[in-house]
Amino acid sequence: MAMMKAVVLPEAFGGVGPLTVTEIERPQPGDVQVLIKVHAASVNPVDYKMASGKYPAVKQSVLPIVLGRDISGTVVSCGPQVTGLHAGDEVYAMLDRGHGGFAEYVALNADLCVPKPAKLDHVAAAAVPLAGITAWQGLFDHGQLISGQRVLIHGGAGGVGHFAIQFAKERGANVSTTGSAQDKDFVRLLGADQAVDYKSDRFEEVVHDVDLVFDLVAGETQERSWNVLKDGGTLISTLGKPSEARALEHHARATGYMAQPNASELAEIGQLIVAGKVKPYIEATFPLEAAGAALQRLEQRHTQGKIVLEVSA
Ligand SMILES: NC(=O)c1ccc[n+]([C@@H]2O[C@H](COP(=O)([O-])OP(=O)(O)OC[C@H]3O[C@@H](n4cnc5c(N)ncnc54)[C@H](OP(=O)(O)O)[C@@H]3O)[C@@H](O)[C@H]2O)c1
Repeated sequence: MAMMKAVVLPEAFGGVGPLTVTEIERPQPGDVQVLIKVHAASVNPVDYKMASGKYPAVKQSVLPIVLGRDISGTVVSCGPQVTGLHAGDEVYAMLDRGHGGFAEYVALNADLCVPKPAKLDHVAAAAVPLAGITAWQGLFDHGQLISGQRVLIHGGAGGVGHFAIQFAKERGANVSTTGSAQDKDFVRLLGADQAVDYKSDRFEEVVHDVDLVFDLVAGETQERSWNVLKDGGTLISTLGKPSEARALEHHARATGYMAQPNASELAEIGQLIVAGKVKPYIEATFPLEAAGAALQRLEQRHTQGKIVLEVSA
């Protein structure tokens, strides 16, 4: 039986501290699946939320599972019904829950795989799928942002936010964003027109008449955001459904959403990367063995862009 290294969330939620690499059986691709040799996998807040039992969609009864929702790697073999992909193809993908990417190999549905943009190495490519797709779906599918509109992005320097700023600018929007003081230069580099330090300034005093608030922070940041919306504006959050009563007061459309894997959107993001219009920023890389430390860093301290695990050469 072929084995592989993987970061497994065991039978009980214990946070990221105890996570280690263990040897488990290498998966086999199903009829419509491909087996990928994973070169790099990025970490996301969902991973530390899952590890601590704070992610409602993953209950203790489904454990153990391999963590990780983003991969970049090479196709090793294809199930009998797979067309259009071949051994040796370099691909990247956002994984469904339960197909963990913090592993040397992953089997996933072929239709989730997208050719890796040639100009990115695997580390940079692995930073893109979940954060990029989340930003895309929040701004465009749910937020319906169009050229000439004004958007406020809360948490613009993080994994999702740093893509959202670039996508919104590329779409022709005027972009304001909130973040830490040390991120001001970074978000300006990404294209933000206005950067507000959320620790020293109140964004509602300097940002007005916004068509769309894209909320990656929630809590009182979301609550204070109603006041910056244009009458009839839109508030989209990655962190639960905003108050319907407050939305009604402001004649606003407001929704929360869970990002879904979407290969055609990832391919569109890839085209922007190839065209030089969007770039993933990697703050740090860790070896697979240090997945727990990588997640601890994401959870406990300020990150600019993304943190990526180097899995195999
Ligand atoms: N629903 C979904 O499908 C979905 C998908 C992806 C992500 N999410 C959620 O969306 C959130 C963002 O994800 P991410 O990957 O971008 O996380 P991340 O990489 O950890 O980035 C979070 C960013 O928010 C900033 N921040 C923290 N408090 C803030 C505040 N009060 N005002 C403005 N900025 C603030 C942080 O800066 P400092 O550290 O300097 O404070 C950091 O730059 C997470 O909670 C994640 O779980 C949901």
